Amino acid sequence: MNPADVRLDVRLGRLRLVNPIMVASGTFGYAREMAGLVDMGRLGGILPKTITPDPRPGNPPPRTIETASGMLNSIGLDNDGVDSFIEKQLPYLASLGTAIVVSIAGRSEPEFIQMAARLDGLPGVAALELNISCPNVAGGVDFGTDPTMCERLVAGVRHTCSLPVLAKLTPNVTDISQIARGAEAGGADAISLINTCLGMAVDWRRRRPILGNVLGGLSGPAIKPIALGAVYRVARAVDVPLVGMGGIASIDDVMEFLVAGATAVQIGTANFYNPTVSRQILDALPAALAELGATCVADVVGTIESG
Ligand SMILES: Cc1cc2nc3c(=O)[nH]c(=O)nc-3n(C[C@H](O)[C@H](O)[C@H](O)COP(=O)(O)O)c2cc1C
Repeated sequence: MNPADVRLDVRLGRLRLVNPIMVASGTFGYAREMAGLVDMGRLGGILPKTITPDPRPGNPPPRTIETASGMLNSIGLDNDGVDSFIEKQLPYLASLGTAIVVSIAGRSEPEFIQMAARLDGLPGVAALELNISCPNVAGGVDFGTDPTMCERLVAGVRHTCSLPVLAKLTPNVTDISQIARGAEAGGADAISLINTCLGMAVDWRRRRPILGNVLGGLSGPAIKPIALGAVYRVARAVDVPLVGMGGIASIDDVMEFLVAGATAVQIGTANFYNPTVSRQILDALPAALAELGATCVADVVGTIESG
């Protein structure tokens, strides 16, 4: 197969992407920060930092710390709220020529639904990702730990707006497949996994936690095996497409996620230490797919042989 002939476009339910490489929420700001480093129009999609109904100051500092093969963060959904996002960030994002998947978080079902209604039909909004998985805020995460609440929330958002809906799940549960089934039953177009893994860093000399919020979310290469395991398990539990993330930093990582069952991927922490990582991965993707004899991305998705 000639790499130039491989088709890169993918479908996540009603959402169509020109390629499967997106950047993850909270690791790309509102994209302005990355201008000049990334050819935004080439990306399959951009997930801006999660927004909430009202402005949030986030958690006390320190909010990030480097760990072995990863980082811990406890940002706590610091953002200026949905109105400010629509006025100040969305016009720029909409001009970038790629799918903007707006990540939203609320403390209750009505909050999610109000935000979905507010964003529905606005130019530049391609889809919503429901962040029901942030480990750094009180409340909210219940939607990601209880399959019935997850189903109700996804269904409520779907009935409220015409946008494709992605549900982003937390790995901090006993069985992520159960939550994924809830998201599927609620009508999610796709399921994104995983958000960060709950963790902690300790300064033993001062006998204190290092993060101001005590606990934080672990991300980066350290969590890739957890994320791959989640994708593999969830792919066996549901029929909706999956968006894999967790430690992706190279084309090999991307191919592992696709073969394990993800239709698309998001790159997160790697953006911080290699801002051009998405460009490098996009450059390498056609040849990697061709190496497996694929004519399109779907040819490799979930093709892992096991057992
Ligand atoms: C500093 C930081 C901030 C994050 N903020 C958000 C956020 O606002 N919303 C969200 O859904 N995920 C957020 N995440 C989680 C990432 O989107 C992603 O799910 C996770 O980091 C795993 O991918 P990675 O290992 O490639 O970073 C954040 C991650 C980091 C490191």
